[in-house]
Amino acid sequence: MLSNRMCLSSLTFLKQNKLKLNTRLISDFVKIVEVGPRDGLQNEPNIVPTETKIKLINELSETGLSVVEATSFVSPKWVPQMADHNEVMRGIAKKNGVNYPVLTPNLKGFQSAIIAGAEEVAIFGAASEAFSQKNINCSIEESLGRFKSVLEAVKNQNVPVRGYVSCVLGCPYQGKVPTGEVVKVALKMIEMGCYEISLGDTIGVGTAIKMKELLKHVLSEIASEKIAVHCHDTYGQALGNIVAALDQDIRIVDSSVAGLGGCPYAKGASGNVASEDVVYMLHGSGMDTGIDLDKLVDVGSFISNELGRKNSSKAGVAILMNRDKK
Ligand code: HMG
Ligand code: MG
Repeated sequence: MLSNRMCLSSLTFLKQNKLKLNTRLISDFVKIVEVGPRDGLQNEPNIVPTETKIKLINELSETGLSVVEATSFVSPKWVPQMADHNEVMRGIAKKNGVNYPVLTPNLKGFQSAIIAGAEEVAIFGAASEAFSQKNINCSIEESLGRFKSVLEAVKNQNVPVRGYVSCVLGCPYQGKVPTGEVVKVALKMIEMGCYEISLGDTIGVGTAIKMKELLKHVLSEIASEKIAVHCHDTYGQALGNIVAALDQDIRIVDSSVAGLGGCPYAKGASGNVASEDVVYMLHGSGMDTGIDLDKLVDVGSFISNELGRKNSSKAGVAILMNRDKK
């Protein structure tokens, strides 16, 4: 049985048991939420030209992705890199079938996002008191009040709201984060009306066993269809943690092209797991994403060159090298 297996043996398990997964009516389709243009770029020290951001989003839209998180409507004093949110939203060529959610920490951000043409938003809170204060300058309780006003504002507008819970497996300021807090914040966001909750391992300290244990508690309260995992790869654990989540029937994974990124209020946090690596792993395990991996690799190469950065996707680099040999 799944529950008796070690998570890390699950790559082969997934492949061998595709049939079994199907008979349990669990989809072998995984929705990838591409967060590169937001989470990936928000921490870049030099301001990335708006045109580059727009090109990145447009190119990602051509890869088969159904969600490309575009920008955030946060204070430009707090995150200067996202100050061009209006221009980005107005400049992108929205493709049918692709959603372009944006981050909104409060009602002010939400209202600006809607004026700029956003059709989906994400609120972002934390399971750690210390991180909440550093990231959004308020307690968890206060943040939930702000989110409630966003959820009330969307009621008549048909705008889906995603919820993020950060620091689910550890916090850069307070260390351990009680699992009960993660469940509590996630549940409150669901009760407010969020359609999906993304569990963020913000500083990438989690391991497969810890992810499995966390999900056991979360999934006792919230259906797996509503849960996404958002794994930063600081300690190289992200893919293992994602496999652990797949084992627990999670089918929504956040990732960032070329492994870009980090959170400006989580020192030392590296980028999200690279989208190319996740897609390579899923396709190689007999699962489907609807994404053209070759096109995604090209986008990763494009943005790494633009930023003058080493491409942090191992699969991306390997595929490019093999192409060169041919
Ligand atoms: P604050 O300073 O407490 O806000 O910031 P305030 O309400 O006291 O207002 C102060 C000033 O900010 C006022 O302007 C407001 O109008 C303005 P002033 O009167 O001084 O000219 N203001 C805003 N301006 C633009 N957009 C807004 C906005 N709200 C107020 N939405 C605030 C509170 C939440 C705004 C601030 O702390 C903030 O912007 N924080 C964002 C931090 C951030 O973006 N972090 C990264 C994203 S989270 C993340 O990466 C984690 C994630 O990836 C998951 C994971 O990895 O775990 C999602
Ligand atoms: Mg993040």
